[in-house]
Amino acid sequence: MDDRGQMADDKRPSVVRYPSSVVHASAPGKIILCGEHAVVYGRPAIAIPISQVQATATVEPAAPGASLTLHAPDIGLVLRLDEAPPDQPLAAIVRGTLAHLGVEAPDATITVRSTIPVASGMGSSAAVSTAIARVLARYLGAPLERAALSALVYEVEKLHHGTPSGVDNTVIAYEQPVYFVRGQPIERLTIRGRFHLLIADTGVPSLTRLAVGDVRRAWEADPATYERLFDEIGAIVRAARAALESGDVARLGPLLNANQERLRQIGVSSPELERLIAAALAAGASGAKLCGGGRGGNMIALVSPTTQAAVAEALRAAGATRILFQEIGG
Ligand code: PMV
Repeated sequence: MDDRGQMADDKRPSVVRYPSSVVHASAPGKIILCGEHAVVYGRPAIAIPISQVQATATVEPAAPGASLTLHAPDIGLVLRLDEAPPDQPLAAIVRGTLAHLGVEAPDATITVRSTIPVASGMGSSAAVSTAIARVLARYLGAPLERAALSALVYEVEKLHHGTPSGVDNTVIAYEQPVYFVRGQPIERLTIRGRFHLLIADTGVPSLTRLAVGDVRRAWEADPATYERLFDEIGAIVRAARAALESGDVARLGPLLNANQERLRQIGVSSPELERLIAAALAAGASGAKLCGGGRGGNMIALVSPTTQAAVAEALRAAGATRILFQEIGG
């Protein structure tokens, strides 16, 4: 056993083994297909992992006594765990994971990177936390169940978003399409048929926390209207689930449009989102809506192999700063 392992044996449970080489882990981004905002108020949402964008984390051993250091080169952050404030999200997921595993911080450097655009409705914060918790558990040779991982990430999501529904950490930790209802056991979705989506970025960053806060104030001021809108979204999500599970591609487009109409009424759309949505529909998409917190960030368009190229071109011409193609099901 090397020096580091010897030291660990002195201080830590014997199950903990410290590899001498670098350990990697990753976590996907996500989209909310339908149900955002209403999901905060107990209605269902459908979310899908998007592995084309990812957060990755690595742990490399450091010299004994060097402490644990967090390194996020994308944002120019270098932080010692023992000097990080309690509400620093990267430190919080490390502390939560170590506490859950019942071990002390190893002498190591955790480096985290992400290709998921921030503040754009694609789950960047939850994916970064998930990758860190995963890589740490892997480095320590300790098992970390998906349910526990999701719960750890949820605690850090509270630091980012205030009152998150839990949908982001769930879909990202499980890496499967989910039908999510706050506080209920996760339901994995089996999607039949093939659905083709374009995910287009308005390029306008938008903090979910602000949109969620505005919706809460509007709901408090006019609960009857907002409860009705949330109920209508809930019914749309249930119908979308049936369409996905039966492979009824034709049915999904109008449901996405109906969801977008409610999101407009809730007050979370924006001129940039509306421009992309209108362009996608005019170019042949069968449905289009914002995804995530809204006010900016990404939108999705349901396309077919025949309409995909024209819709992508229209989105580009309407100002989309990045377009991803995602096939789901099949
Ligand atoms: O903006 P995102 O991708 O974090 O999605 C937020 C989804 C909301 O329903 C608006 C908030 C939540 O916590 O579910």
